[in-house]
Amino acid sequence: MISSFKPVARTLMGPGPSDVNPRILEALGRTTIGHLDPQFIEMMDQIKQLLQYAFQTKNELTLPVSAPGSAGMEACFVNLLEPGDKAIVCINGVFGNRMVENVTRCGATAVTVEDDWGKPVDPAKVEAALVANPDAKVLCFVHAETSTGARSDAQALASLAQKHDCLTIVDTVTSLGGVELKVDEWGLDAVYSGTQKCLSCTPGLS
Ligand SMILES: Cc1ncc(COP(=O)(O)O)c(C=O)c1O
Repeated sequence: MISSFKPVARTLMGPGPSDVNPRILEALGRTTIGHLDPQFIEMMDQIKQLLQYAFQTKNELTLPVSAPGSAGMEACFVNLLEPGDKAIVCINGVFGNRMVENVTRCGATAVTVEDDWGKPVDPAKVEAALVANPDAKVLCFVHAETSTGARSDAQALASLAQKHDCLTIVDTVTSLGGVELKVDEWGLDAVYSGTQKCLSCTPGLS
């Protein structure tokens, strides 16, 4: 016998998914409109502007992807890496390893810079990897490692990448809206996040 799903109210205390804000739950009960409706286009424009504010960027390619954070991750990697490219990937927890998987699936080579779980990415090790790999195209790191709560210094890492003529791919799934993140001021290149952590929105959007 199938019955209607009635979840019990729980307080989510992990690093995400977080409790969804009541304003968002209320909005989910509103009517649906078509994707070509002028009101939909207006809403999309507004969402892009608000996302630019959240990410502190003026980049016009600031957009929601209707799929989870992993799709935002994949979008960044497949658009920046080609077979034969080299990427430096910082690993200090679960999601750095996920980045390596994306690099290899693009047919590129991952040079890994490893730090202990629970520790931030060490800029000195990153600089050594950049010096040793002048052909690296992208430096990839997780701003806040969800698996341990360690926050890395995104500004320092981005400035090292710039010094060595490297682009950056930055995972801000757990940091956006929770800690300082200044995409333009810090010069981050490709940045993705998710809705289900510090934004207190539903899961499923990147
Ligand atoms: C740092 C980080 N990156 C990527 C992801 C993947 O996001 P999603 O589960 O929405 O696909 C997560 C999810 O917890 C995450 O914490």
